[in-house]
Amino acid sequence: NRKISIAIDGPAAAGKSTVAKIVAENLSYIYIDTGAMYRALTYKAIANNLDLEDEDSLVEMLLKTEIGLLPSDNGQIVLLDNLDVTNEIRTSEVTNLVSIPSKHLRVREEMVRRQQSFAKSGGVVMDGRDIGTHVLPNAEVKVFLLASVDERAERRHNENLQKGFPSDLEKLKEEIARRDKIDSEREVAPLKKAEDAIEIDTTSLTIPEVVDKIMALVHERI
Ligand code: C5P
Repeated sequence: NRKISIAIDGPAAAGKSTVAKIVAENLSYIYIDTGAMYRALTYKAIANNLDLEDEDSLVEMLLKTEIGLLPSDNGQIVLLDNLDVTNEIRTSEVTNLVSIPSKHLRVREEMVRRQQSFAKSGGVVMDGRDIGTHVLPNAEVKVFLLASVDERAERRHNENLQKGFPSDLEKLKEEIARRDKIDSEREVAPLKKAEDAIEIDTTSLTIPEVVDKIMALVHERI
């Protein structure tokens, strides 16, 4: 079987990473969570009191920053300059600010360069916002996952409650909608379905159903 590239894009909390991990595991491919890279940068920028609107200082820091993605049993470990920040990059502070550093052209150029080098030998499942449009424009399978804001907020809310985290459903709805708005309206590589991507509305689908649909697309190509 030839090793293909699979691009999975879509708005916040659409279940991209959940299904991407399973698809990667089914195929013994590498899973690359590009959102984790933007989150790691944002986390470090906050810790260093950088102005998140200041492209120059973000780029200068990014060029001296190592971001490592290591496979693990439950997905992926994120290393920031060799420190494990897997949990730290998921706080609501980072989540609510990450779209700001992600707007800048030169930040994105450096991230895309790194992402393309992770993917250069094929056999990857990559999720994000611009994978099908910019990072892997030649990916053999491109999927765009959709779900209503209400559905996405409810899923995240239930996840939080299950983990025993405090959670406010109405606030989650607002935060998800605001992040999608910034990600969709930015000038550089906005969140957008690639012309040749297959749209899957997951609102009324289970995780295995979404995985099956993607696996069917994969089997058409390998
Ligand atoms: O996927 P996740 O929700 O972790 O992504 C966090 C944020 O990183 C997104 O809201 C977006 O601002 C940014 N991002 C991006 N391009 C990607 C992946 C993530 O701009 N390919």
